[in-house]
Amino acid sequence: MANIVLVGAQWGDEGKGKIIDVLTENSDVIIRSQGGNNAGHTVFVGKTKYVLHLIPSGILRGNKLCIIGNGVVIDPVGLLKEIEGLVAMNIPVSGQLFISQSAHIVMPWHKQLDLLKESRKGDEKIGTTKNGIGPAYSEKADRTGIRMVDFIQPERFKALLKERLEEHNKNFLAHGMEALDFNSIYTTYSEIAAKLKPFVKETVTLLYKARKEGKSILFEGAQGTFLDIDHGTYPFVTSSNTTAGGACTGSGFPPHHIDKVMGVAKAYSTRVGGGPMPTENAEISDLLHGLGREFGATTGRARRCGWHDCVITRTAVMINGIDELALTNLDGLDTVETIKLCTAYECDGVQYDYVPSDITLLERCKPVYKEFAGWKTPTTGARSWEELPENARLYLKALEQECQTRIAILSVGPARDETFTVHE
Ligand code: GDP
Ligand code: IMO
Ligand code: MG
Repeated sequence: MANIVLVGAQWGDEGKGKIIDVLTENSDVIIRSQGGNNAGHTVFVGKTKYVLHLIPSGILRGNKLCIIGNGVVIDPVGLLKEIEGLVAMNIPVSGQLFISQSAHIVMPWHKQLDLLKESRKGDEKIGTTKNGIGPAYSEKADRTGIRMVDFIQPERFKALLKERLEEHNKNFLAHGMEALDFNSIYTTYSEIAAKLKPFVKETVTLLYKARKEGKSILFEGAQGTFLDIDHGTYPFVTSSNTTAGGACTGSGFPPHHIDKVMGVAKAYSTRVGGGPMPTENAEISDLLHGLGREFGATTGRARRCGWHDCVITRTAVMINGIDELALTNLDGLDTVETIKLCTAYECDGVQYDYVPSDITLLERCKPVYKEFAGWKTPTTGARSWEELPENARLYLKALEQECQTRIAILSVGPARDETFTVHE
């Protein structure tokens, strides 16, 4: 029985949903601790594709306790849609999903502010998912947010809504935008609140009880290390702590009861939105997009693609204390003639083996590459290390060495069974 924190080691979309789904087989509780419906976690069950945005991917296994923790910002409209979508696909949710009373909610003004702030930035825009995530976390930090516990109590919600709208509408009108209408928001949102109320619980005690009973708990990270508000490529980041510590603060789980931190990374790199990406490369972008791969699960945007950046992964290992790596999308490199692996950065004659926190320096960094002969063979059929082509093994061994961690799980296709454990 192990309590595992799973974190993205790159810029999100590493394949966390798929790996969570695989690990859930041996877990009892799956919890989301940060982010909101900016996340899009893809899971294939047989040929059926599911994309989860707020609900832990463990819901698809049935019979698992799934928690949306206090650190998550919840768009009630999005959450209800997700619940109803699962129910329509015969996935039971009631009695399995619990939402923290302390989680903050995302309101229409957050989405409006997200759009307004992005449009003001012009070329410097972050490229957010437009889901109001940043403004919702800002209001939480400002201590003016609305929490689930407020939301499900009609009179309390009404008073808070009135107060918040007064302030935001002044701002919107000053910017020539339309004011938001109290009555229509109150009617729609209080109906949703009534539907969500049965799911809302004191989740800290639920989690405590589960731990005391010896249940194994899986923390489903959202986004990735370099989108972390503190450790990412600020300001091109999201507004939560996507790194391992976020699992504890966003759930109320004690750090010393975590047994393992697992990082998820792709065999190459991707990023959606703005910000530095030293190994971005047109050849690999064209190849993957040509195969119909690497389009965002939340926004449908084409992801920027590049070679695997060991400086990124190595720094993620350092920040999160990653014990082992799940490496996904190895099959994405199956047709590449010569594969590059970034082992360091160079800037003004200085070599960096970690990601500099000064973004202006990072933007000028040039990747230092090692080259590997491609294997030019499909790997999706492989189910063990021994079944991989020799050139793939050489590439992966070098990646492990450069990233200073071991690969414990390899994913060679989107399906559950297209995965295998790599033994030490
Ligand atoms: P997440 O946000 O980290 O859960 O990742 P996303 O679901 O946004 O994006 C990962 C994409 O890669 C999804 O389309 C997955 O179905 C897909 N995927 C995950 N692992 C593999 C793999 O090993 N091979 C292939 N071909 N696709 C994969
Ligand atoms: P998952 O969990 C990839 C990116 C956005 C943007 C920046 C800020 O699926 O890995 P936000 O809407 O959070 O204010 O946007 O963060 N971003 C993600 N990129 N995967 C995600 O989640 C992301 N969530 C946010 O593209 O660059
Ligand atoms: Mg995603």
